[in-house]
Amino acid sequence: MNYTIALLPGDGIGPEVVGGARRVLDAIAARFGHVFSYREGMIGGCAIDATGEALPEETLGLCLSSDAALLGAVGGPKWSDPKAPVRPEQGLLKMRQAMGVFANLRPVVVLDALIEASPLRPERVRGVDLLIIRELTGGLYFGVPQGQETIDGERAAVDTMRYRESEIRRVVRLAFELARGRRRKVTSVDKANVLASSRLWREVTHEIAAEYPDVEHEDILVDACAMYLINRPADFDVIVTENMFGDILSDEASMIAGSMGMLPSASLGESGRPGLYEPIHGSAPDIAGQDIANPLATILSTAMMLRSSLGLEEEAIAIESAVAQVLADGARTADIARAGESFIGTIEMSERVAQVLSSPA
Ligand code: IPM
Ligand code: MG
Repeated sequence: MNYTIALLPGDGIGPEVVGGARRVLDAIAARFGHVFSYREGMIGGCAIDATGEALPEETLGLCLSSDAALLGAVGGPKWSDPKAPVRPEQGLLKMRQAMGVFANLRPVVVLDALIEASPLRPERVRGVDLLIIRELTGGLYFGVPQGQETIDGERAAVDTMRYRESEIRRVVRLAFELARGRRRKVTSVDKANVLASSRLWREVTHEIAAEYPDVEHEDILVDACAMYLINRPADFDVIVTENMFGDILSDEASMIAGSMGMLPSASLGESGRPGLYEPIHGSAPDIAGQDIANPLATILSTAMMLRSSLGLEEEAIAIESAVAQVLADGARTADIARAGESFIGTIEMSERVAQVLSSPA
């Protein structure tokens, strides 16, 4: 089959990790007889430099007319002046909103080979297999009013956390649906003891939970959840939460898996529309251009893309198994290597995964 994939390398290590993922996609194409047509677009800082805009119209059009989009990362010190009129991150947010990808799936799976890479004790992280579903197009990231103002002659600023029930319902429903294919447990995370938006979140979540009597459901306050992720991560199955809470908790949860460099994500909207796939990590400007970034988060995002947007389950599993195999064989990038352990670069790691795919056991 022929599929069209928008590639958005972005800034910092983005081009390197997307390059690695592309190498892996080529290996999939060769093995399974598919044709992937790549269409490259600019987003973030590189787009600002070239066009003045963080998300050129052309890039958005490219994504909307493709089967899926794979993004590296955006941002960097060059564009981070708080007074700058346009910032790279705005491109990413605009893209998420324009593509209507309201649910961001961030699985955290601890592979046996990487148990030692986590700063947490092995007995805590062994067997962890959880899925954070982060609401992605609402809440503080998009609420208006937002901005700086003057109150009584001094500087002030405001952000707005607003949720409509329809926004809550669609993402929480997805959490319950996905839980049915897993261990049938949904943990909804909020701050209902303080925030009105969280009280609505909880109300709507209970209405939906009533439709899924076969799925266990609990509510946890976000501060407590931050604690439980460290002291009993294996208890979680599906966690669903609003945008900002999900942003913070998913970085925290990445440490369970050993490194941000291991965590993929899928951002999905209404079925039939293209999804957006990206590693959860940022552009890491401090290590950009050195061939030391871990490409596995992007490679695993590619697996999610094949599964959710292209319907290629077998191919997705092939990538996930190949990643598990190279890790079991001892391949490590710097971020997941133990002190003193030797490690390989971005290109070499991608190459190893591609090789396993080209010569399956
Ligand atoms: C993420 C990132 C983004 C976010 C930034 C780069 C805007 O942290 O995808 O988690 O906050 O959503
Ligand atoms: Mg984040």
